[in-house]
Amino acid sequence: MVPKLSRRGFIALSASLGSSCSMLSFGEGDGGGAAARTTANTGYRTPRLGGPVLRNPDMNFPASGASSGVTFSRVAVSQPYIALTFDDGPHPRNTPRLLDILRERNVKATFYVIGRNVDLYPSVLRRTVSEGHEIGNHTYNHPILSKLSDSAVREELLKCRDAVARAAGVQPRTMRPPYGALLQRQREWVRAELRYPTIMWSVDPLDWKKPGAGVITSRMISATTPGAILLAHDLHAGTVDAMPATIDGLLKRGYKFVTVSQLLAMGSQVEPGPLAAGQ
Ligand code: NI
Repeated sequence: MVPKLSRRGFIALSASLGSSCSMLSFGEGDGGGAAARTTANTGYRTPRLGGPVLRNPDMNFPASGASSGVTFSRVAVSQPYIALTFDDGPHPRNTPRLLDILRERNVKATFYVIGRNVDLYPSVLRRTVSEGHEIGNHTYNHPILSKLSDSAVREELLKCRDAVARAAGVQPRTMRPPYGALLQRQREWVRAELRYPTIMWSVDPLDWKKPGAGVITSRMISATTPGAILLAHDLHAGTVDAMPATIDGLLKRGYKFVTVSQLLAMGSQVEPGPLAAGQ
């Protein structure tokens, strides 16, 4: 599988991988129409759990305790907390539109950014951080890490980390492998050496296949359970279009949004991630 650079510098990969975020180019329909407006939940506030929302302090997760696991796809919690995550940005139009939607609802999310896109759109990342969202490491070039040497994996993660630090002065605390493709052996050394837990997901609306905003919303709402980690991609206009109804529907059902770090910190047990493509 040879990655091809699109004209805007995004990596395009064959859709045959059968996992998330296969096509990462700006096609038609990604231009960003107006998001469907629903009633903003102005009364909602992100819960404060032992202090303000974690904003990527320059510390990593402890090597022991509830959050010491190697891989998380969901977290066992006693309350209906969930983590909304967005991969593959920042995108110059769709990410700001998503940030508006999140701000209207006082919802904090976690963004697994691609370092290359951070270097292209650093101001979008700065806004994301300044509005209280958490940043995760999604590599620099979005390669299939399970096919790379340890040194190449290390370089991908460190280059993304450095791009995030340059742009916004913070560091990712967790990582998500592109396509979910990271071998168990790799997850273990990444956890031990770089201190990143591997964050998978328990809700996948397959939004990268562009099924339409209504389908994305219904898939995400119906699959969500307490402790869920929800996967979506903020570079697709249709995904952003789906977010008002998705977030409002989940709020209506009593779910409370926290960042991945917050969710991990309140977890009582580790759930193994699903087997990913390429393993
Ligand atoms: Ni991705």
